[in-house]
Amino acid sequence: MDPKASGLTQRLADAGQSHLLQFWKELSPEEQADLTRDLQGMDFQEINGFFKNAMETSGSSKHEKMDARMGPVPREVLGSVTRDRECLKDWEVAGLDCISQSKVAALLLAGGQGTRLGVSYPKGMYDVGLPSHKTLFQIQAERILKLQQLAEQKHKIKCCIPWYIMTSGRTMESTKEFFSQRNYFGLDKNNIIFFTQGMLPAMDYSGKIILENKGKLSMAPDGNGGLYRALGNQGIINDMERRGIGYIHVYCVDNILVKVADPSFVGFCVQKGADCGAKVVEKTNPTEAVGVVCKVDGLYQVVEYSEITLATAEKRSDDGRLMFNAGNVANHFFSFSFLKDVVQKYEPKLQHHVAQKKIPFVNAQGQLIKPDKPNGIKMEKFVFDIFQFAKMFVVYEVLREDEFSPLKNADSQDAKDTPTTARHALMSLHHRWVLNAGGHFIDENGRRVPYIPSLKDGTDLPIKCEISPLVSYGGEGLEELVKGREFHPTLMIDENGVHELVKNGV
Ligand code: UD1
Repeated sequence: MDPKASGLTQRLADAGQSHLLQFWKELSPEEQADLTRDLQGMDFQEINGFFKNAMETSGSSKHEKMDARMGPVPREVLGSVTRDRECLKDWEVAGLDCISQSKVAALLLAGGQGTRLGVSYPKGMYDVGLPSHKTLFQIQAERILKLQQLAEQKHKIKCCIPWYIMTSGRTMESTKEFFSQRNYFGLDKNNIIFFTQGMLPAMDYSGKIILENKGKLSMAPDGNGGLYRALGNQGIINDMERRGIGYIHVYCVDNILVKVADPSFVGFCVQKGADCGAKVVEKTNPTEAVGVVCKVDGLYQVVEYSEITLATAEKRSDDGRLMFNAGNVANHFFSFSFLKDVVQKYEPKLQHHVAQKKIPFVNAQGQLIKPDKPNGIKMEKFVFDIFQFAKMFVVYEVLREDEFSPLKNADSQDAKDTPTTARHALMSLHHRWVLNAGGHFIDENGRRVPYIPSLKDGTDLPIKCEISPLVSYGGEGLEELVKGREFHPTLMIDENGVHELVKNGV
């Protein structure tokens, strides 16, 4: 189709983006058709507006100013699994009650590109090398299945936890196919709802959209805060309403320890009458790559690790802990009515954050250039940017070793948050579950492994032990299987029973 006749040429000229058709004549008819389709779906004036606003509100002076406006989370909105131990059971009961009434949904953010991990497929399909070789998606699916069973057993009614999965244009097909090939991991496929977030073009510093090749724009997902727009324009909020969902647990794909639809977290938030909540772990290292939940000008917000200055990240309170220590583990709670308000009223008010990137591009001469320093920006909204609109915001602090081990980077020496660290975190949690339930481990010499493993040779390899989520969601129900028994690693507990995979090297 002729871009002039369709009005596209004019629209591009009006928006100062005419360069996007610069190589039109060199493209094949298919390439021309693809480019036309991509361009026709775009609102250039809106994109230019995003760019202008994002550039105005970014910049280093903004970070410095922000630091002065930051305050820590006050104790009265904070619930803690360690400091409020006596309330835990109540919260869990309240959460399970909501689950049994099918009022709780899980919402997975899985539209990221996994750039740091360096795989070409969706991160949820990653196998970190557990004895079972389960992927992150499978582990999460089985936790949902188990939680439904626990709620059903307790309340003697059938219930379901709908699972909403946000993908992006790049991850949708492979994600759906993966689930379908594995028969939805035993879940009812009608209760797994896939939807896609939007994409935005990368732009150079003067606001020109970048061409990745002569016939293709450089596009990236619009950040995990793209969630809210997608919930509206893909009919997801209506689907939730139709199902009678009251509470939503939103979480990121990469945390192997994630307690999907965590009844204690849900129960805590519901009992506090919260419309919005965040789960946190104590941040102990100032340079750790987690955002911190805090107040900015009196409003709740997460200040990202890329947005806080080192001086502020290093500030300590009188007790010696970091002042901004509410480390965001990307687990959020929303009441349905709050989420609906966000989608309908607040989303357009959210600003894009700017990430400066090295973006490969074709130059005016048609050569492909791979820059060695940042040459443009990607614009992203963040899922937590809506905390500021909450009327009752709460924070729930959990133990890192029980609930947070994200998979971000590929394995390499000194790398953090890798397949190895994720695998170890899960096995070490399951090891502790066995010990708590009265089981023991025996080493290769027939001796009981001490509760606190020694760091021989500096290698603190965990006991190899994996418990299927289909057997236990959070460590419950293991006594009858392990109490008073001794096991040789590798111990595997699954729906078929208790197995020792390798016994004394045999
Ligand atoms: C995220 C949090 C950070 C937190 C950390 C904990 C955000 C913006 N930041 O940082 O505060 O401390 O996790 O591990 O949430 N995603 C999409 N669409 C996108 C981009 C990302 O769905 O366009 C999803 C990813 O698939 C992933 C999650 O969002 O599940 C987090 O994305 P990632 O880019 O890994 O966030 P971090 O920078 O690690």
